[in-house]
Amino acid sequence: MPDMAQSRLKVTVTRKLPDIVEARLAALFDAAFNPSDEPLSPSALLKAAQETDVLAPTLGDRLDADFFEAVGDRLKLVANFGAGVDHIDVAAARRRAITVTNTPSVLAEDAADMAMALILAVPRRLVEGVRALEEGAFHGWSPTWMLGRRVKGKKLGIIGLGRVGQAVARRARAFGLEIHYHNRTPINPHVEAELEATYWESLDQMLAHVDIVSVNCPHTPATFHLLSRRRLELLQPHAYIVNISRGEIIDETALADMIAEGRLGGAGLDVFEQEPRPNPKLLAAPNVVLLPHMASATVESRIEMGERVIINIKMFADGHRPPDRIIPGLE
Ligand code: DGY
Repeated sequence: MPDMAQSRLKVTVTRKLPDIVEARLAALFDAAFNPSDEPLSPSALLKAAQETDVLAPTLGDRLDADFFEAVGDRLKLVANFGAGVDHIDVAAARRRAITVTNTPSVLAEDAADMAMALILAVPRRLVEGVRALEEGAFHGWSPTWMLGRRVKGKKLGIIGLGRVGQAVARRARAFGLEIHYHNRTPINPHVEAELEATYWESLDQMLAHVDIVSVNCPHTPATFHLLSRRRLELLQPHAYIVNISRGEIIDETALADMIAEGRLGGAGLDVFEQEPRPNPKLLAAPNVVLLPHMASATVESRIEMGERVIINIKMFADGHRPPDRIIPGLE
């Protein structure tokens, strides 16, 4: 590594970050910001990366194998602002000896709040109720109008019981849901016992058993379309799906078709395969709640994400291993 501690490290941030984070970055480094918050074009991103020691991108920036081929020798660290790194080819970065870090943990609780909000909102028809009122369709209480489904006692199947998944499970238990989960391997038995969670080695079998599915695994080549049409068809017709992770994990066309055909209970989605455009059939479905990728959108999360970015850069600049290093294959 060059003697970065001696000279001020050039750090380039691709999107507008909270003011307090930018002020701290400016105090510590030779920092370049993007006050307009306009996403950089691929060529502008590459040029910025060629002329900096550290790039702090976020999920809209595509850092693929071609990017790392072309980036040159100056860039040493990609300190991602965000937990997901599916927009970064981490193996290609490693081949160029470029370290990649992310911002895990700090957004887990806020993201889990949003998953829980969707787990409640879809079966209880929260958004439909708001719309009915706004559209003048509320003509007084009725014994049989706006009936949803009870949440308590339902079986929740969590795909990916990591930090966010466990935070979802804790909340869900407080609402009386039964916790089931699918992971590559079972979690720590103490945590499993605390959550009274049932491990399913077979995702197919879990899907056929549960009432609500919460997607909480990262998007990797192995999880692309993990919820394929075949797997969605294993769900019971009353089942609900909630996804705050990445749109690519679900075959969105298949999901939209099945919802339009009345073959699923509904869905709560914060993420989409082709952001920012959800499948039009989902937009039209009354039993679907759609959010604009905002699960980590709290002032607190975004500041703490910025702090993790700073810690990772500072540790790297001081010649230490940054704490949130991504190891290729384990992202
Ligand atoms: C992430 O961190 O990857 C979220 O999707 C955005 O906060």
